[in-house]
Amino acid sequence: MSYVIAISGASGAVYGVTLLEYLLRAKHRVYLLLSRSARLIIRDEMGLEWGSHFSESAEILEKRYREYDLILCNEDDMTAAIASGSVLTAGMIVAPCSMKTLSGIAHGYSSNLIERAADVSLKERRPLILIPRETPMNRIHLKNMLAASELGATLLPAMPPFYHHPETIEDMVHFIAGRALDLLGLKNQLYKRWS
Ligand SMILES: Cc1cc2nc3c(=O)[nH]c(=O)nc-3n(C[C@H](O)[C@H](O)[C@H](O)COP(=O)(O)O)c2cc1C
Repeated sequence: MSYVIAISGASGAVYGVTLLEYLLRAKHRVYLLLSRSARLIIRDEMGLEWGSHFSESAEILEKRYREYDLILCNEDDMTAAIASGSVLTAGMIVAPCSMKTLSGIAHGYSSNLIERAADVSLKERRPLILIPRETPMNRIHLKNMLAASELGATLLPAMPPFYHHPETIEDMVHFIAGRALDLLGLKNQLYKRWS
């Protein structure tokens, strides 16, 4: 199956990287989108050097994920496969989803390939999971989350719970990543389920 993972410039790049690596290891094709801010945050929060523009990232990720079916898309390239609904994908996750990208998606703005691919997911009625991260939230953020939900997206805020007694940051990240995979119908053991 093919999935789209978009990492936008909110805190919590680790959610997107975790989902990317899970799907690649599970032998899925992943179309990856990185915003400019996401590259900065991946470096700052995760200590990963993924380049500061598309061609650098393409070179770095081609080496890092050589054995996997990864297609890095340029966020400015509206001719990319995933800009069209005719290219079949089984779902898209924006992890994390910044308030700016949320706004673009909720209003059908399609100003870059992240927003366009999300727009395609909505028009094709494919699963679109947004992992928003901001705190506190203002009325615009809340209204945009409601608008996106009404359009068919699923809002899965980066709000890990504590009932599964997380011991590490990874436990908390895996809970959110695992719930996103659940929503795509992908069985996974990333987190401890309530029993
Ligand atoms: C270190 C850092 C952390 C940020 N964290 C957030 C965040 O958690 N949520 C958010 O909506 N924006 C956050 N921002 C601001 C976004 O990066 C900014 O609005 C950017 O324009 C988003 O663009 P993008 O959606 O195209 O990535 C952060 C910026 C920086 C530099």
